[in-house]
Amino acid sequence: MLADIKALFLEQFGKAPRLYSSPGRINLIGEHTDYNEGFVLPGAVDKKIYVGIAENGMDVLRVFARQYGERFIFELGDIRPIKGWATYLLGMLEQFRGKGYELKGLDLVVDGDVPLGAGMSSSAALCSAFGFALNDYFGWKESRMSLALMGQQTEHQFAGVKCGIMDEFTSLHGKRGHLIKLDCRSMDYEYIPFDFPGYQIVLVNTMVSHELASSEYNLRRQQCEEGVDALRRFFPEIRSNIRSLRDLNLKQLESHRDELEETVYKRCFYVIGENARLQRGCQFLRQGDLSSFGKLMFLSHEGLRRDYAVSCEESDFLVDASAELEGVMGSRQMGGGFGGCTIHIVRSESIPGFLSEIPGLYEKKFGIIPPAYIVSLEDGARKED
Ligand code: GLA
Repeated sequence: MLADIKALFLEQFGKAPRLYSSPGRINLIGEHTDYNEGFVLPGAVDKKIYVGIAENGMDVLRVFARQYGERFIFELGDIRPIKGWATYLLGMLEQFRGKGYELKGLDLVVDGDVPLGAGMSSSAALCSAFGFALNDYFGWKESRMSLALMGQQTEHQFAGVKCGIMDEFTSLHGKRGHLIKLDCRSMDYEYIPFDFPGYQIVLVNTMVSHELASSEYNLRRQQCEEGVDALRRFFPEIRSNIRSLRDLNLKQLESHRDELEETVYKRCFYVIGENARLQRGCQFLRQGDLSSFGKLMFLSHEGLRRDYAVSCEESDFLVDASAELEGVMGSRQMGGGFGGCTIHIVRSESIPGFLSEIPGLYEKKFGIIPPAYIVSLEDGARKED
């Protein structure tokens, strides 16, 4: 991949680039909890976005993206959101400009193997790879945390998705062989080894990314905020301590169930439960109890399906079908929802059976063979040689 990017850069722009990469991510449990100031348990993986970068001495950004087969030129004096993947590059430039850095003309080749629209955060990997590259190339002084926040703002302002911090944070802070337990309120984090020889993490790509995903995502966020507002009114004595669903437990929620609008109640029920599942899940991982951890993954999916209503027929099918198979410890839909990938923890010796069974069943029902990826946990954004 790196040699190809170098060659392509030379062919497109007639010089040699500096190379950087940033990975996509998985999330074992803790979905839709980040923007509720809760906890997540992601890890960076061995599928990455790569950028080659060099100054061009002009006031333009020239980009060639191999994965998308597209080429663009943008005036640095006229940066605004556009449709499509290049908006993430423009958003990151605007973030740096907003911090007072002087932008210079650049040539860029973008490539990668993070599946697009598959719930593995290819857009966060792109923001992180480009942000990390700019920061290093020009010797700017932003920390990894600051780059993650800039990526999140790019998603908000240049793509219109009010996402949480999980994806960018993970792409920049990943650690080989480890998951990250991240507190999305304090931003404290802890690396948890995922050290289970004999088991592997398998993703299955539904190959659907539903149109409504981003509008429904923003709607979920709004419904959670409505829930917090309503619950604050029911608990005047602790009102000032209730900033998000993180500050409430199921008992408090249940005590006002009848006064909450049904949909809002279900959204809150899911998020509060998911935070609790994550905490228990981390204990199970520390104790080496993958079987109990896997059961929580199935419960998480049930919540996503029934209460948070962000799953879809295709993901439900993959989770249900894999639950029937030998050696599958846990399965759930991963990421924002309405398609993307499902994540499964599978005993290594059962993987051939899993891979011969699941794609065929899916094809029979939906008419396409879903790609499957066995992923490993890797380091976050870095400079490449
Ligand atoms: C998307 C968002 C994340 C997170 C997940 C759901 O990936 O970008 O911030 O909210 O959905 O957990």
